[in-house]
Amino acid sequence: MKTAYPPGPKGMPLLGNVLQIRKNKLAFMLHAARTHGDIAHFRLGPIDAYLLNHPDHIRDVLIERADVLPKDRLQNKIISPFFGNGMLISNGEEHHRQRRMAQPAFHPRRLDSYARIFVEQALQGMAGWRSGDEYAIDAEMLKMTIQNVCLALFNADATDIVARAAAAMTSIIELLSTEFDLAIPIPMWLPTQRNRRKREAIRELDSIVMKFVADWRRSGQDRGDLLSMLMLAHGEARGGVTHDELRDHLITMFSAGHETTAFTLVWAWILLSQHPDVEAELWTELDRVLGGRPPTAEDLPQLVYTTMIVKETLRLYPAGWLLSPREPHEDITLGGYTIPKGSMIFISPYVLHRDGRFFPEPERFRPERFRPGADKHIARGTYIPFGIGPRVCIGGAFATTEAVLTLATVAQRYRVSLLPGQSLAPRGNLALRPPPGVKVRVIARKTVAAAA
Ligand code: HEM
Repeated sequence: MKTAYPPGPKGMPLLGNVLQIRKNKLAFMLHAARTHGDIAHFRLGPIDAYLLNHPDHIRDVLIERADVLPKDRLQNKIISPFFGNGMLISNGEEHHRQRRMAQPAFHPRRLDSYARIFVEQALQGMAGWRSGDEYAIDAEMLKMTIQNVCLALFNADATDIVARAAAAMTSIIELLSTEFDLAIPIPMWLPTQRNRRKREAIRELDSIVMKFVADWRRSGQDRGDLLSMLMLAHGEARGGVTHDELRDHLITMFSAGHETTAFTLVWAWILLSQHPDVEAELWTELDRVLGGRPPTAEDLPQLVYTTMIVKETLRLYPAGWLLSPREPHEDITLGGYTIPKGSMIFISPYVLHRDGRFFPEPERFRPERFRPGADKHIARGTYIPFGIGPRVCIGGAFATTEAVLTLATVAQRYRVSLLPGQSLAPRGNLALRPPPGVKVRVIARKTVAAAA
Protein backbone atom coordinates (compact mmCIF):
# COMPACT_ATOMS: atom_id res chain seq x y z
CA MET A 1 0.00 0.00 0.00
CA LYS A 2 1.32 3.44 -0.92
CA THR A 3 1.46 6.06 1.84
CA ALA A 4 -0.44 9.22 0.90
CA TYR A 5 1.78 12.10 1.91
CA PRO A 6 0.48 15.51 2.83
CA PRO A 7 1.64 18.27 0.47
CA GLY A 8 5.06 19.79 0.97
CA PRO A 9 8.06 21.53 -0.61
CA LYS A 10 9.62 19.59 -3.46
CA GLY A 11 12.98 18.10 -2.69
CA MET A 12 15.77 16.38 -4.62
CA PRO A 13 16.21 12.67 -5.16
CA LEU A 14 18.21 11.11 -2.31
CA LEU A 15 18.91 14.39 -0.51
CA GLY A 16 15.30 15.39 -0.13
CA ASN A 17 15.11 18.97 1.23
CA VAL A 18 18.40 19.16 3.13
CA LEU A 19 19.97 21.76 0.85
CA GLN A 20 17.04 24.16 1.27
CA ILE A 21 17.19 23.58 5.01
CA ARG A 22 20.94 24.19 5.11
CA LYS A 23 20.48 27.43 3.20
CA ASN A 24 17.95 28.94 5.59
CA LYS A 25 16.09 26.73 7.98
CA LEU A 26 13.83 29.48 9.33
CA ALA A 27 12.76 30.52 5.84
CA PHE A 28 12.25 26.90 4.81
CA MET A 29 9.94 26.13 7.74
CA LEU A 30 7.97 29.37 7.33
CA HIS A 31 7.54 28.77 3.64
CA ALA A 32 6.54 25.13 4.10
CA ALA A 33 3.83 26.11 6.56
CA ARG A 34 2.48 29.06 4.59
CA THR A 35 2.39 27.20 1.31
CA HIS A 36 1.34 23.73 2.38
CA GLY A 37 -0.88 24.21 5.40
CA ASP A 38 -1.44 22.45 8.68
CA ILE A 39 0.69 19.38 7.95
CA ALA A 40 3.58 19.77 5.53
CA HIS A 41 5.71 16.85 4.42
CA PHE A 42 9.38 17.02 3.46
CA ARG A 43 12.41 14.77 3.51
CA LEU A 44 15.73 14.76 5.30
CA GLY A 45 17.59 12.37 3.01
CA PRO A 46 15.61 9.14 3.26
CA ILE A 47 13.69 10.21 6.37
CA ASP A 48 10.09 11.38 6.16
CA ALA A 49 9.61 14.63 8.06
CA TYR A 50 6.42 16.49 8.94
CA LEU A 51 5.89 20.06 10.09
CA LEU A 52 2.70 20.60 12.12
CA ASN A 53 1.08 24.00 11.97
CA HIS A 54 -2.17 23.71 13.81
CA PRO A 55 -2.78 23.79 17.58
CA ASP A 56 -5.10 20.75 17.37
CA HIS A 57 -2.30 18.60 15.92
CA ILE A 58 0.23 20.13 18.27
CA ARG A 59 -1.84 19.30 21.35
CA ASP A 60 -2.38 15.82 19.98
CA VAL A 61 1.35 15.15 19.60
CA LEU A 62 2.73 16.99 22.62
CA ILE A 63 0.00 16.22 25.15
CA GLU A 64 -2.51 13.52 24.24
CA ARG A 65 -0.14 11.08 22.58
CA ALA A 66 3.10 12.24 24.18
CA ASP A 67 3.85 8.73 25.47
CA VAL A 68 4.07 7.22 21.97
CA LEU A 69 5.88 10.24 20.55
CA PRO A 70 9.19 10.55 22.39
CA LYS A 71 12.06 12.75 21.32
CA ASP A 72 13.61 11.60 18.07
CA ARG A 73 16.51 9.15 18.26
CA LEU A 74 18.50 10.61 15.39
CA GLN A 75 18.46 14.13 16.80
CA ASN A 76 19.33 12.73 20.23
CA LYS A 77 22.28 10.91 18.70
CA ILE A 78 23.51 14.17 17.18
CA ILE A 79 23.30 16.28 20.31
CA SER A 80 24.18 13.61 22.88
CA PRO A 81 27.98 14.09 22.68
CA PHE A 82 27.22 17.42 24.33
CA PHE A 83 24.04 16.95 26.37
CA GLY A 84 24.81 13.36 27.37
CA ASN A 85 21.64 11.69 28.59
CA GLY A 86 20.33 14.78 30.40
CA MET A 87 16.74 15.90 30.70
CA LEU A 88 16.56 17.51 27.25
CA ILE A 89 17.30 14.15 25.66
CA SER A 90 16.18 11.30 27.89
CA ASN A 91 12.84 9.61 27.32
CA GLY A 92 10.37 7.48 29.31
CA GLU A 93 11.08 6.47 32.90
CA GLU A 94 14.59 7.96 32.88
CA HIS A 95 13.14 11.34 31.86
CA HIS A 96 10.49 11.15 34.62
CA ARG A 97 13.15 10.37 37.17
CA GLN A 98 15.36 13.28 36.11
CA ARG A 99 12.47 15.70 35.96
CA ARG A 100 11.25 14.70 39.46
CA MET A 101 14.75 15.11 40.80
CA ALA A 102 15.14 18.68 39.44
CA GLN A 103 11.56 19.88 40.03
CA PRO A 104 12.02 21.23 43.59
CA ALA A 105 14.59 23.75 42.30
CA PHE A 106 11.89 25.22 40.04
CA HIS A 107 9.10 25.31 42.62
CA PRO A 108 7.34 28.71 42.60
CA ARG A 109 8.35 29.13 46.26
CA ARG A 110 11.97 29.37 45.18
CA LEU A 111 11.35 32.17 42.72
CA ASP A 112 11.41 34.79 45.50
CA SER A 113 15.03 34.09 46.32
CA TYR A 114 15.91 33.82 42.63
CA ALA A 115 14.27 37.21 42.05
CA ARG A 116 16.77 38.83 44.41
CA ILE A 117 19.62 37.31 42.39
CA PHE A 118 18.16 38.48 39.06
CA VAL A 119 17.81 42.09 40.23
CA GLU A 120 21.21 42.12 41.94
CA GLN A 121 22.92 40.77 38.80
CA ALA A 122 21.18 43.30 36.56
CA LEU A 123 22.41 46.08 38.88
CA GLN A 124 25.94 44.65 38.92
CA GLY A 125 25.93 44.14 35.17
CA MET A 126 25.05 47.82 34.66
CA ALA A 127 27.50 49.05 37.29
CA GLY A 128 30.25 49.48 34.72
CA TRP A 129 28.05 51.16 32.08
CA ARG A 130 28.62 54.79 31.21
CA SER A 131 25.80 56.83 29.81
CA GLY A 132 26.37 57.50 26.11
CA ASP A 133 28.69 54.51 25.59
CA GLU A 134 28.18 51.67 23.12
CA TYR A 135 27.91 48.03 24.12
CA ALA A 136 27.37 44.66 22.44
CA ILE A 137 24.01 43.93 24.02
CA ASP A 138 24.25 40.13 23.69
CA ALA A 139 27.49 40.04 25.71
CA GLU A 140 25.91 42.27 28.38
CA MET A 141 22.81 40.10 28.68
CA LEU A 142 24.84 36.87 28.69
CA LYS A 143 26.90 38.20 31.61
CA MET A 144 23.71 38.66 33.60
CA THR A 145 21.99 35.40 32.67
CA ILE A 146 25.07 33.19 33.12
CA GLN A 147 25.51 34.62 36.60
CA ASN A 148 21.79 34.18 37.29
CA VAL A 149 21.68 30.50 36.41
CA CYS A 150 24.96 29.69 38.19
CA LEU A 151 24.08 31.57 41.38
CA ALA A 152 20.47 30.39 41.50
CA LEU A 153 20.97 26.71 40.68
CA PHE A 154 24.57 26.00 41.69
CA ASN A 155 25.27 28.77 44.21
CA ALA A 156 28.40 29.42 42.16
CA ASP A 157 29.91 32.73 41.11
CA ALA A 158 30.53 32.67 37.37
CA THR A 159 32.12 36.10 36.92
CA ASP A 160 35.38 34.65 35.63
CA ILE A 161 33.98 32.15 33.16
CA VAL A 162 31.40 34.21 31.26
CA ALA A 163 33.48 34.88 28.14
CA ARG A 164 34.84 31.30 27.95
CA ALA A 165 31.40 29.80 28.42
CA ALA A 166 29.75 32.05 25.84
CA ALA A 167 32.43 31.29 23.21
CA ALA A 168 32.30 27.53 23.82
CA MET A 169 28.49 27.54 23.66
CA THR A 170 28.46 29.41 20.35
CA SER A 171 30.97 26.99 18.91
CA ILE A 172 29.21 23.80 20.02
CA ILE A 173 25.76 24.99 18.97
CA GLU A 174 26.98 25.93 15.50
CA LEU A 175 28.76 22.61 15.03
CA LEU A 176 25.77 20.58 16.19
CA SER A 177 23.33 22.63 14.11
CA THR A 178 25.09 21.65 10.90
CA GLU A 179 24.75 17.96 11.68
CA PHE A 180 21.20 18.51 12.72
CA ASP A 181 20.29 20.23 9.45
CA LEU A 182 21.80 17.39 7.46
CA ALA A 183 20.26 14.78 9.79
CA ILE A 184 23.62 13.00 9.83
CA PRO A 185 25.33 12.35 13.15
CA ILE A 186 29.09 12.54 12.67
CA PRO A 187 30.66 9.85 14.87
CA MET A 188 32.92 11.43 17.48
CA TRP A 189 35.73 8.97 16.76
CA LEU A 190 36.25 10.37 13.23
CA PRO A 191 39.47 12.41 13.27
CA THR A 192 38.00 15.52 11.64
CA GLN A 193 38.65 19.18 12.27
CA ARG A 194 35.02 19.66 13.28
CA ASN A 195 35.20 16.84 15.82
CA ARG A 196 38.34 18.37 17.28
CA ARG A 197 36.55 21.71 17.72
CA LYS A 198 33.51 19.94 19.14
CA ARG A 199 35.62 18.10 21.68
CA GLU A 200 37.43 21.30 22.69
CA ALA A 201 34.17 23.17 23.28
CA ILE A 202 32.66 20.27 25.23
CA ARG A 203 35.81 19.94 27.34
CA GLU A 204 35.70 23.65 28.10
CA LEU A 205 32.07 23.54 29.27
CA ASP A 206 32.64 20.30 31.19
CA SER A 207 35.52 21.86 33.07
CA ILE A 208 33.33 24.86 33.96
CA VAL A 209 30.49 22.83 35.46
CA MET A 210 32.75 20.23 37.10
CA LYS A 211 34.60 23.05 38.86
CA PHE A 212 31.27 23.93 40.51
CA VAL A 213 31.09 20.33 41.74
CA ALA A 214 34.66 20.43 43.06
CA ASP A 215 33.90 23.69 44.90
CA TRP A 216 30.73 22.19 46.37
CA ARG A 217 32.62 19.12 47.60
CA ARG A 218 35.02 21.29 49.56
CA SER A 219 32.21 22.49 51.83
CA GLY A 220 29.85 19.52 51.32
CA GLN A 221 26.99 21.59 52.69
CA ASP A 222 23.36 21.66 51.68
CA ARG A 223 22.86 25.17 50.39
CA GLY A 224 19.35 24.45 49.21
CA ASP A 225 20.23 24.81 45.52
CA LEU A 226 19.91 22.32 42.65
CA LEU A 227 23.54 21.28 42.88
CA SER A 228 23.23 20.48 46.60
CA MET A 229 20.05 18.53 45.88
CA LEU A 230 21.77 16.45 43.23
CA MET A 231 24.80 15.85 45.40
CA LEU A 232 22.95 15.01 48.62
CA ALA A 233 19.50 13.62 47.94
CA HIS A 234 20.61 11.45 45.11
CA GLY A 235 23.53 9.63 46.34
CA GLU A 236 26.73 11.62 46.50
CA ALA A 237 26.77 10.83 50.21
CA ARG A 238 25.87 7.23 49.41
CA GLY A 239 28.17 7.06 46.41
CA GLY A 240 25.13 6.84 44.12
CA VAL A 241 25.07 9.60 41.53
CA THR A 242 27.58 8.92 38.81
CA HIS A 243 30.02 11.42 37.41
CA ASP A 244 28.29 11.25 34.02
CA GLU A 245 24.82 11.80 35.43
CA LEU A 246 25.97 14.82 37.37
CA ARG A 247 27.82 16.23 34.41
CA ASP A 248 24.81 15.73 32.10
CA HIS A 249 22.43 17.41 34.55
CA LEU A 250 24.65 20.41 35.09
CA ILE A 251 25.49 20.86 31.41
CA THR A 252 21.78 20.65 30.53
CA MET A 253 20.70 23.23 33.09
CA PHE A 254 23.63 25.51 32.42
CA SER A 255 23.22 25.54 28.64
CA ALA A 256 19.40 25.47 28.44
CA GLY A 257 19.26 28.10 31.17
CA HIS A 258 21.31 31.08 30.00
CA GLU A 259 21.39 31.71 26.23
CA THR A 260 17.62 31.36 25.89
CA THR A 261 16.86 34.17 28.34
CA ALA A 262 19.79 36.30 27.19
CA PHE A 263 18.58 36.18 23.58
CA THR A 264 15.00 36.91 24.64
CA LEU A 265 16.28 40.04 26.37
CA VAL A 266 18.35 41.04 23.33
CA TRP A 267 15.23 40.83 21.15
CA ALA A 268 13.26 42.78 23.75
CA TRP A 269 15.80 45.64 23.64
CA ILE A 270 15.76 45.61 19.84
CA LEU A 271 11.95 45.74 19.76
CA LEU A 272 11.72 48.44 22.42
CA SER A 273 14.23 50.54 20.59
CA GLN A 274 12.13 50.24 17.43
CA HIS A 275 8.85 51.03 19.25
CA PRO A 276 9.17 54.24 21.29
CA ASP A 277 5.45 54.18 22.17
CA VAL A 278 5.88 50.81 23.91
CA GLU A 279 9.08 52.00 25.55
CA ALA A 280 7.27 55.09 26.92
CA GLU A 281 4.46 52.97 28.35
CA LEU A 282 7.03 50.68 29.95
CA TRP A 283 8.71 53.64 31.66
CA THR A 284 5.35 54.92 32.89
CA GLU A 285 4.67 51.56 34.52
CA LEU A 286 8.16 51.28 36.02
CA ASP A 287 8.01 54.79 37.48
CA ARG A 288 4.49 54.26 38.86
CA VAL A 289 5.10 50.82 40.39
CA LEU A 290 8.69 51.20 41.56
CA GLY A 291 9.14 54.94 42.08
CA GLY A 292 12.86 54.59 41.47
CA ARG A 293 13.64 51.64 43.78
CA PRO A 294 14.83 48.30 42.38
CA PRO A 295 12.04 45.75 41.81
CA THR A 296 11.38 42.74 44.04
CA ALA A 297 9.37 39.55 43.58
CA GLU A 298 6.41 41.27 45.28
CA ASP A 299 6.27 43.80 42.43
CA LEU A 300 5.79 41.13 39.77
CA PRO A 301 1.96 41.14 39.82
CA GLN A 302 2.04 44.93 39.27
CA LEU A 303 4.55 44.78 36.42
CA VAL A 304 1.74 43.89 34.03
CA TYR A 305 2.96 45.78 30.98
CA THR A 306 6.58 44.65 31.45
CA THR A 307 5.31 41.06 31.49
CA MET A 308 3.24 41.70 28.35
CA ILE A 309 6.39 42.93 26.58
CA VAL A 310 8.26 39.77 27.53
CA LYS A 311 5.40 37.58 26.30
CA GLU A 312 5.13 39.43 23.01
CA THR A 313 8.90 39.21 22.54
CA LEU A 314 8.69 35.46 23.09
CA ARG A 315 5.91 35.30 20.52
CA LEU A 316 7.98 36.98 17.81
CA TYR A 317 11.35 35.56 18.79
CA PRO A 318 10.92 32.32 20.75
CA ALA A 319 14.45 31.18 21.62
CA GLY A 320 13.25 27.57 21.34
CA TRP A 321 12.04 28.28 17.82
CA LEU A 322 11.95 24.61 16.78
CA LEU A 323 11.01 21.96 19.31
CA SER A 324 13.01 18.75 19.40
CA PRO A 325 11.56 16.52 16.71
CA ARG A 326 9.30 13.73 17.96
CA GLU A 327 9.48 10.21 16.56
CA PRO A 328 6.41 7.97 16.45
CA HIS A 329 7.29 4.49 17.66
CA GLU A 330 4.25 3.15 15.81
CA ASP A 331 2.32 4.39 12.76
CA ILE A 332 -0.05 7.14 13.82
CA THR A 333 -2.87 8.98 12.08
CA LEU A 334 -2.87 12.73 12.13
CA GLY A 335 -5.24 15.02 10.22
CA GLY A 336 -6.28 12.07 8.02
CA TYR A 337 -2.71 11.11 7.10
CA THR A 338 -0.73 8.10 8.23
CA ILE A 339 2.56 9.19 9.74
CA PRO A 340 4.84 6.17 9.57
CA LYS A 341 6.81 4.87 12.50
CA GLY A 342 10.34 6.33 12.49
CA SER A 343 9.41 9.68 10.86
CA MET A 344 10.46 13.02 12.32
CA ILE A 345 7.69 15.35 13.50
CA PHE A 346 8.60 19.02 13.73
CA ILE A 347 6.77 21.82 15.54
CA SER A 348 7.98 25.40 15.34
CA PRO A 349 6.76 27.98 17.86
CA TYR A 350 8.32 30.63 15.59
CA VAL A 351 6.25 29.59 12.57
CA LEU A 352 3.08 29.09 14.59
CA HIS A 353 3.38 32.43 16.40
CA ARG A 354 3.58 34.24 13.06
CA ASP A 355 0.43 32.68 11.66
CA GLY A 356 -2.22 35.34 10.95
CA ARG A 357 -5.03 32.88 11.70
CA PHE A 358 -4.00 32.82 15.34
CA PHE A 359 -2.32 36.21 15.78
CA PRO A 360 -3.80 39.05 13.71
CA GLU A 361 -1.11 41.25 12.11
CA PRO A 362 1.41 38.64 13.17
CA GLU A 363 4.54 40.58 12.24
CA ARG A 364 3.57 43.56 14.42
CA PHE A 365 5.05 43.94 17.89
CA ARG A 366 1.93 44.55 19.94
CA PRO A 367 2.22 43.70 23.67
CA GLU A 368 -1.51 44.54 23.98
CA ARG A 369 -2.27 41.00 22.73
CA PHE A 370 -1.19 39.77 26.13
CA ARG A 371 -3.16 42.25 28.25
CA PRO A 372 -4.72 40.02 30.95
CA GLY A 373 -8.21 39.18 29.71
CA ALA A 374 -7.45 40.05 26.08
CA ASP A 375 -5.31 36.92 25.84
CA LYS A 376 -8.24 34.61 26.69
CA HIS A 377 -8.95 33.78 23.06
CA ILE A 378 -5.43 32.41 22.43
CA ALA A 379 -6.22 28.70 22.18
CA ARG A 380 -4.09 26.15 24.01
CA GLY A 381 -1.27 24.96 21.79
CA THR A 382 -1.09 28.22 19.79
CA TYR A 383 1.31 30.20 21.97
CA ILE A 384 4.07 27.77 22.96
CA PRO A 385 7.38 29.56 23.61
CA PHE A 386 8.13 27.00 26.33
CA GLY A 387 6.56 24.01 24.57
CA ILE A 388 3.59 22.23 26.12
CA GLY A 389 2.76 18.90 27.77
CA PRO A 390 5.07 16.65 29.78
CA ARG A 391 8.19 18.03 28.07
CA VAL A 392 7.29 21.70 28.67
CA CYS A 393 10.31 23.79 29.66
CA ILE A 394 11.06 23.19 33.32
CA GLY A 395 12.55 26.70 33.51
CA GLY A 396 9.59 28.64 32.04
CA ALA A 397 8.63 30.52 35.22
CA PHE A 398 12.31 30.98 36.13
CA ALA A 399 13.00 32.51 32.71
CA THR A 400 9.91 34.73 32.63
CA THR A 401 10.64 36.10 36.11
CA GLU A 402 14.25 36.62 35.12
CA ALA A 403 13.39 38.43 31.89
CA VAL A 404 10.74 40.66 33.50
CA LEU A 405 12.96 41.66 36.43
CA THR A 406 16.05 42.22 34.29
CA LEU A 407 14.08 44.31 31.81
CA ALA A 408 12.51 46.33 34.64
CA THR A 409 15.79 46.89 36.49
CA VAL A 410 17.68 48.02 33.39
CA ALA A 411 14.89 50.00 31.68
CA GLN A 412 14.26 51.87 34.91
CA ARG A 413 17.76 53.35 34.67
CA TYR A 414 18.71 53.30 31.01
CA ARG A 415 17.32 53.81 27.58
CA VAL A 416 18.86 51.12 25.38
CA SER A 417 19.04 52.41 21.77
CA LEU A 418 19.93 50.27 18.83
CA LEU A 419 22.67 51.75 16.64
CA PRO A 420 21.44 52.12 13.06
CA GLY A 421 22.53 50.12 10.02
CA GLN A 422 22.88 46.70 11.63
CA SER A 423 21.54 43.44 10.24
CA LEU A 424 18.94 42.07 12.64
CA ALA A 425 17.92 38.90 10.82
CA PRO A 426 17.47 36.05 13.32
CA ARG A 427 19.41 32.81 12.88
CA GLY A 428 17.64 29.53 13.36
CA ASN A 429 20.31 27.36 14.91
CA LEU A 430 19.36 25.03 17.72
CA ALA A 431 18.17 28.24 19.42
CA LEU A 432 16.90 31.36 17.67
CA ARG A 433 19.88 33.69 17.85
CA PRO A 434 20.16 37.38 17.18
CA PRO A 435 23.14 38.25 14.99
CA PRO A 436 26.24 38.28 17.21
CA GLY A 437 27.41 41.60 18.62
CA VAL A 438 24.30 43.77 18.11
CA LYS A 439 25.43 47.26 19.18
CA VAL A 440 23.42 49.59 21.39
CA ARG A 441 24.02 52.93 23.07
CA VAL A 442 22.88 53.20 26.67
CA ILE A 443 21.66 56.55 27.93
CA ALA A 444 20.90 57.16 31.60
CA ARG A 445 17.19 57.86 31.95
CA LYS A 446 17.54 61.09 33.87
CA THR A 447 19.49 62.37 30.88
CA VAL A 448 16.75 61.11 28.55
CA ALA A 449 14.11 62.89 30.64
CA ALA A 450 16.10 66.15 30.74
CA ALA A 451 16.57 66.10 26.95
CA ALA A 452 12.86 65.43 26.28
C1 HEM B 1 13.23 32.41 27.59
C2 HEM B 1 13.88 31.34 27.98
C3 HEM B 1 13.58 29.93 27.60
C4 HEM B 1 12.92 29.43 26.51
C5 HEM B 1 12.30 30.21 25.36
C6 HEM B 1 12.91 27.99 26.65
C7 HEM B 1 12.30 27.12 25.75
C8 HEM B 1 12.19 25.76 25.94
C9 HEM B 1 11.40 24.88 25.12
C10 HEM B 1 10.59 25.31 23.90
C11 HEM B 1 11.51 23.62 25.63
C12 HEM B 1 10.78 22.39 25.14
C13 HEM B 1 11.50 21.69 24.03
C14 HEM B 1 10.70 20.59 23.37
O1 HEM B 1 9.55 20.26 23.72
O2 HEM B 1 11.26 20.06 22.45
C15 HEM B 1 12.40 23.70 26.75
C16 HEM B 1 12.81 22.62 27.52
C17 HEM B 1 13.67 22.71 28.57
N1 HEM B 1 14.19 23.86 29.13
FE1 HEM B 1 13.79 25.75 28.53
N2 HEM B 1 13.57 27.65 27.79
C18 HEM B 1 13.98 28.79 28.41
C19 HEM B 1 14.66 28.88 29.62
C20 HEM B 1 15.08 27.82 30.36
C21 HEM B 1 15.76 27.92 31.64
C22 HEM B 1 16.06 29.22 32.36
C23 HEM B 1 16.07 26.64 32.03
C24 HEM B 1 16.77 26.14 33.25
C25 HEM B 1 17.34 26.89 34.14
C26 HEM B 1 15.56 25.74 31.00
C27 HEM B 1 15.68 24.37 31.02
C28 HEM B 1 15.00 23.52 30.17
C29 HEM B 1 15.04 22.07 30.30
C30 HEM B 1 15.85 21.27 31.31
C31 HEM B 1 14.19 21.56 29.30
C32 HEM B 1 13.86 20.10 29.03
C33 HEM B 1 12.60 19.76 29.78
C34 HEM B 1 12.10 18.34 29.56
O3 HEM B 1 12.29 17.80 28.47
O4 HEM B 1 11.49 17.79 30.48
N3 HEM B 1 14.96 26.49 30.02
N4 HEM B 1 12.78 25.01 26.95
